[in-house]
Amino acid sequence: MIFKWNDKYNTGISSIDEQHQHLFFLGNQLFGVVSNGAGIDSYDKIMAVLAELKNYTAYHFKHEEELMEKFSYKDYEAHKKQHEAFVDKIIEVETKNIDDNQNKITMEIIEFIADWVQNHIIKSDHVYKGLFLEKGVV
Ligand SMILES: [Fe+2]
Ligand SMILES: [Fe+2]
Repeated sequence: MIFKWNDKYNTGISSIDEQHQHLFFLGNQLFGVVSNGAGIDSYDKIMAVLAELKNYTAYHFKHEEELMEKFSYKDYEAHKKQHEAFVDKIIEVETKNIDDNQNKITMEIIEFIADWVQNHIIKSDHVYKGLFLEKGVV
């Protein structure tokens, strides 16, 4: 397991925390495909989990962005840009030919996702939590 949930990631907003936990789950699924698949062709599985991760991330980002807009969150634009940069990176990976050396490249992607998600939750998502909690978001 490479994505380990820890209390420090909790925002106290259950919809957000559940979505973040599901992102960790999908990250671990991707890791599972790579670690169980040494020496076998896991290309289709990798692409399937990556697509699911991208779709779920888009769903989660939309949820956050709608709330930010609704409550006129001051860092809305900057936060949205971070989300967009993440989605762009995943699309870039999807369009890259990872067929050769797929496990090594996928491990690099997983490390990027783990690093990005953990940092983003702590440094950016935690900044809006005060406002959302004050507005009664659950
Ligand atoms: Fe988030
Ligand atoms: Fe976010």
